[in-house]
Amino acid sequence: MADNKTDIELTEKRLRQLAEEMASMSLATLMHAPGRAQFCYEFEDLQVDCTRQPVTEEVMACLFAYARQRCLQQRIDEMMSGQPVNLSENRPVVHCNLRRPEYRLSDAFQKPAAFAEKLRSLPAVRAVVNLGIGGSDLGPAMVVRALAAFHDGPDVHFVANVDPADLSDVLDSCSPDTTQFIVTSKTFTTAETLQNAMLARGWLSQHGIAPQTAMAAVTANAERAADWGIARDRIFTFPEGVGGRYSLWSAVGLPIITAIGAEGFGALLDGAFAMDTHVSQAPFERNLAVIMGLLRVWHRSFLDRPSYGLMPYDQRLADFPAWAQQLEMESNGKGVDRHGRVLGCPAGPLVWGAPGTNSQHSFFQWLHQGLDTVPLDILIALRPAAISPDSPFYASHEILAINAVAQAEALALGQENRHEPHRHFPGNRPSVLLSWQQTDAYSLGRLLALYEHITTISGFIWDVNSFDQWGVELGKELARALQNSGQNSGENSGQNSMFSPAARAFVRRLRG
Ligand code: F6P
Repeated sequence: MADNKTDIELTEKRLRQLAEEMASMSLATLMHAPGRAQFCYEFEDLQVDCTRQPVTEEVMACLFAYARQRCLQQRIDEMMSGQPVNLSENRPVVHCNLRRPEYRLSDAFQKPAAFAEKLRSLPAVRAVVNLGIGGSDLGPAMVVRALAAFHDGPDVHFVANVDPADLSDVLDSCSPDTTQFIVTSKTFTTAETLQNAMLARGWLSQHGIAPQTAMAAVTANAERAADWGIARDRIFTFPEGVGGRYSLWSAVGLPIITAIGAEGFGALLDGAFAMDTHVSQAPFERNLAVIMGLLRVWHRSFLDRPSYGLMPYDQRLADFPAWAQQLEMESNGKGVDRHGRVLGCPAGPLVWGAPGTNSQHSFFQWLHQGLDTVPLDILIALRPAAISPDSPFYASHEILAINAVAQAEALALGQENRHEPHRHFPGNRPSVLLSWQQTDAYSLGRLLALYEHITTISGFIWDVNSFDQWGVELGKELARALQNSGQNSGENSGQNSMFSPAARAFVRRLRG
């Protein structure tokens, strides 16, 4: 153990030296060096081009050694084999089980699939509204939008925010006698979701529809859902070991099945399973998730880059950055390791992004010429989904894809202009270019599973618990206390009040 600790420290020291050396190397030089194509990696038709990364053979070798010293394979195997790797909640992490072919035979898959197929077959069902937030919203909403080309079921809407505008805007477009609601909440305690569910129940009743016939629930807490009033045969469950942000593969995918059918959802699971198999079996040197997870660590911990951008060149993947943002930031935005010891340096980065080419006309200026360097993943399918090569729309996709690679080149290579500083492009801004044939259910499942594994692998290297999220609790608790504080407690200015004078003044104004 002591030897391992020394090895880790030595490798970290070497990685810090290499990071310093990298500061004086230009990406342009690295990219034109012979043999650079070795940093382009593939699995099936998914290509991960890391040639524009600030890495050399030695850097990668050192990162792989670091991963081995950090027992990465053991950590991946422990997660995949259902050991209780979520230490603070003493739970196994089982979302990968949901992608195994045998899961398709279970009630946990069959029951929601049959329910969704029934909704799809009933002409009287025109709209399905998912009420959920965080992991009970972002994953299914992102997938439904991403697979719009394959959507052949009723309209599917997502309402997450407790802001009444969110629900009322959706209800304005729905008719009470043709709308079904799915209340999705792992805990069935989330205030926003229960508030919206209560409003939806009231809306149905007010229009003479029995809520029991138009509401279903997806949860890990069937008792709470039943107590709330959801009919037992409309409650679909998933295990506690499936974290909210890793849950779209479970019954949480009910809106996805409603949109594209059980077969399409099966293809999504197949793609994810293929990635799981690759991640657990491929050697680190060819393992896409290990390589990308290590690059996260390289940028954050050694090159000191606190932020990471995700730019899908795919309008239907517009919600991908928001999904990945919760995934990575709720998982790795931690200040202590999995045993509770304060980390020596920060873990997961700030993750953000928006689709290209739109983002090129908004914040790419900052990426090209600002003084900060933000590593990016640029994502593009080579062919558009469900558009024939004969269609006039087909050519636009090539313009889109060319823009993706042009941005990667411009960021990395830059362009010198000594006479006009405002036209000088410093370059040296790294990106990973991910490309695949076409965005369909299979390739999407594979891509999303890749990002889940990038998250957990970088979390394993930082040694944080990527499966809990205690940091969201305090805000909820204070909101509850403030909400329940009563009309006059805003006036209570005693030293013992848990709220600041400014907060009490705000509540007085709000309620005044
Ligand atoms: O507040 C954060 C969070 O706990 C997420 O982790 C979770 O995805 C979301 O809230 C919703 O929780 P639930 O599915 O239990 O309603």
